[in-house]
Amino acid sequence: MAPHPETWWKNAVIYQIYPVSFFDSNGDGIGDLNGIASKLDYLKDLGVDVLWLSPIYKSPLADMGYDISDYRDIDPRYGTLQDWDKLLAGVHARGMKLMMDLVVNHSSDEHEWFIESKSSKTHPKRDWYIWRPPRYDAAGNRHPPNNWKAQFEGSAWDYDSTTDEYYLHLYLSKQPDLNWENLDVRQAVWDLMSFWINRGCDGFRMDVINIISKVAGLPDAPVTDPGEEYQDASPLFANGPHVHEYIQEMNLKVLSQHDLITVGETPFTHSAAELAKYVLPANKELNMVFHFEIADLDSPSLPKHEPFIHRPWKVSEFKEIVTRWQQFERDAGFWNAIFIENHDRARSVSRFGNDTEQWRAISAKMLAILEVTLGGTQYVFQGQELGLKNFPRSWGIEEYKDVASQNWYHEILEKRKRESGKDDVNMSDILDGLQKKARDHARVPMQWDSSAHAGFTTGVPWMGVNDDYKAWNAAAQLDDDKSVRSFWKRALRLRKENKVLIYGDFVSLSPQNEQIFAYTRSYEDRHAFVVLNFTPENVTFTLPQGENWSKFVGVFGNQEEDLGLDAPLGPTVHLKGYEGRVYIQTG
Ligand code: GLC
Ligand code: CA
Repeated sequence: MAPHPETWWKNAVIYQIYPVSFFDSNGDGIGDLNGIASKLDYLKDLGVDVLWLSPIYKSPLADMGYDISDYRDIDPRYGTLQDWDKLLAGVHARGMKLMMDLVVNHSSDEHEWFIESKSSKTHPKRDWYIWRPPRYDAAGNRHPPNNWKAQFEGSAWDYDSTTDEYYLHLYLSKQPDLNWENLDVRQAVWDLMSFWINRGCDGFRMDVINIISKVAGLPDAPVTDPGEEYQDASPLFANGPHVHEYIQEMNLKVLSQHDLITVGETPFTHSAAELAKYVLPANKELNMVFHFEIADLDSPSLPKHEPFIHRPWKVSEFKEIVTRWQQFERDAGFWNAIFIENHDRARSVSRFGNDTEQWRAISAKMLAILEVTLGGTQYVFQGQELGLKNFPRSWGIEEYKDVASQNWYHEILEKRKRESGKDDVNMSDILDGLQKKARDHARVPMQWDSSAHAGFTTGVPWMGVNDDYKAWNAAAQLDDDKSVRSFWKRALRLRKENKVLIYGDFVSLSPQNEQIFAYTRSYEDRHAFVVLNFTPENVTFTLPQGENWSKFVGVFGNQEEDLGLDAPLGPTVHLKGYEGRVYIQTG
């Protein structure tokens, strides 16, 4: 069998919806299911095949729905199960599919499972979560069972006085980790997956699915951040000892019984070899995973990973990462998920393009060319198709609604106050970091038109709308053939019409060049050549010798006025700032 037999989910374009900020149908300032249902024609027109909804289950929204208190119901703020059924019917009627977000490393602390688990040491559900007795120091002070640090806050353990034990939470204390070693927990997960599959759901994005199995004994993490009480323990919980057993069991019991699309979110891992285990068809686990090497590229990683600090990156680094994953284990059937934005990352045009007025549209289009010409399944995040950018530096800390931003800011604020003994400390560097990197930039309301609140709501939006919505919105872009939105639509069509862009082998040309990313793709007898300028300067790129470049025909580019695509290719290509072009060899 060929390593990459064609399937619908490889050809599909997946559009991620962040429901709270997509479209509000009833004026309460919160996006909802009926709002999504009213925008299906917009998505179909763009060329979307599958919608992935970030969580819409019942939730206290401590982490915006990634903290679920009932896996089988919709949060009333988003609608009802009947609204979900209607949305699904609308999606299916248009020939599209619907994916749900499966968040089962942890639940909410308000889930009845946890409430029962917490109630006593002998409750049958006690073992559904990870409980440990305290540790005491020589002076008799109580401490958490180990030194693990949680994401977004201090210790990964919270003390519960009812039973005098701590429970583990790798994220917020309101997100207790489920104990996957318990068979009943796994069975409960298979059951809730079946609940949604039987209702008609077409697949799952699996939240932090590579951290469900923790190292036996939960030992202390090595000290990598001296002076801090709690330490990064990701090597002890990412890709842990039983994770592949569990996912194989999930595949056997649930996934293999249906024709679904599955993608695992797999952070804390930059090794393709490690992540390939989830994806290689022989292992019978998932269709693909999200790796975060590009997403982490503009963050410092030493002495520790700092997601909200900006690190300047090099084009050569970017290319090395893309190339490595594009070429990884092709013959064994490794399959990529292509994404550059999601709800956990700032906007791509502000990070990898250039969001000044002069270059914003052109560089957003250049990044669109990059996305549609890489091998794998294509993901687009809401607003990416409009070239939406980060909100401005003038916004104060109170505009940042994400608990991760708030906790990071306040942790540093308190530390600085303590260390200086003053109340008035300078936080401008931290706000600079948040302006570049916060998750909030992806979470502002979608910009639909130039009316109040960008047409997102008739009420007061739960979070501020970006200042630029009068000029940058879907309505204006739909009417403009030269807009980023119109370009994305054509780009997605180009990809669908050229299987070589989805399935082709990837070769990088001139990996050391710090301005240009040039590569070829080859599939059966078709070849594509892509050249992208990552800088505002004019650049001349010299094609490598040995290929008959004159057989390539220019088919696509982002310099609408002067494509220059009719001229025969080679031996050099002259590119304007942020110009990108695609050539196809037909004969
Ligand atoms: C994933 C989600 C993120 C969430 C975290 C904890 O990384 O994408 O939004 O905060 O998991 O559930
Ligand atoms: Ca609403």
